Amino acid sequence: MIDMLDQTATTISRTPVVEILSAEKIFANGVRGLDPIQLSIRPGEFISLIGPSGCGKSTLLKLIANLIEPTDGKMLWWRGDFSKVGTIGRQLAFVFQDPTLMPWSKVDANVRLPLDLAGMPKAEARQRAEAALAHVGLTQAAKRYPRQLSGGMRMRVSIARALVTNPDLLLMDEPFGALDEFTRNKLDEDLVNLCFERNLTNVFVTHSIYEAIFLSTRIIVMAANPGRIFAEYIVDEPMPRNDNFRRSDRFGDMCRELSALLSDASLASLKP
Ligand SMILES: Nc1ncnc2c1ncn2[C@@H]1O[C@H](COP(=O)(O)OP(=O)(O)OP(=O)(O)O)[C@@H](O)[C@H]1O
Ligand SMILES: [Mg+2]
Repeated sequence: MIDMLDQTATTISRTPVVEILSAEKIFANGVRGLDPIQLSIRPGEFISLIGPSGCGKSTLLKLIANLIEPTDGKMLWWRGDFSKVGTIGRQLAFVFQDPTLMPWSKVDANVRLPLDLAGMPKAEARQRAEAALAHVGLTQAAKRYPRQLSGGMRMRVSIARALVTNPDLLLMDEPFGALDEFTRNKLDEDLVNLCFERNLTNVFVTHSIYEAIFLSTRIIVMAANPGRIFAEYIVDEPMPRNDNFRRSDRFGDMCRELSALLSDASLASLKP
């Protein structure tokens, strides 16, 4: 029995979180957002999408979030259709570039929102919101309003709101783009180590080469006109990660390699 359970656990842990099977997107106005994409995302991977503006990073992320549907091809989540998402062990959360908090609600109520919407008993929801706020170091700010927080703190609240549902898959579209570099580095470090501790799978959109290398296990370099996958770059560096990695020669070498790939992708994106 124990063997069988172990086997089941192993099978689940090896099941791809998302499979994108020749999924393409043509918008209603005829714009080709994405050429057919083939990509399998494995549990625990931290994937960054990087590429010139308009190459379809946000479109790909929205396909993965099922916010839009592919025009052709297929998407699978945990080997099934999207109806499986939201059940135990298959939660998905999305963090946007703008923290999108409710200005009239205090921080703890903002974090509790997904649980309140799901009808979770109040006491349990409160407990989980407290834990999520503690995870992002914001216990002291629970009773403040969003306007009383800095940009970095607001983004932490937004991350706590995503974590409160215990997601297995976290999707983030340039979440730290508007922050100063010091705050961004700190949040990057917290995020990558949190994902590692929880075996969370992350798909993360960024324009920063440094951020992509620091966070990722795999980077998908995209090109535009039409949007497509141009190259993949594996970051073979153990977790957890900290400033020692950022300051290492290896890090510098990887940034140079990725920068060269990105230049090639930008050249390949020029309209014929
Ligand atoms: N709803 C839409 N209707 C029509 N075209 C769209 C729509 N959404 C995106 N596009 C187009 O699809 C292409 C990909 O857009 P997308 O927003 O995915 O790019 P991106 O890589 O996220 O760019 P950025 O780095 O600027 O955020 C662009 O040419 C964009 O104009
Ligand atoms: Mg975008």
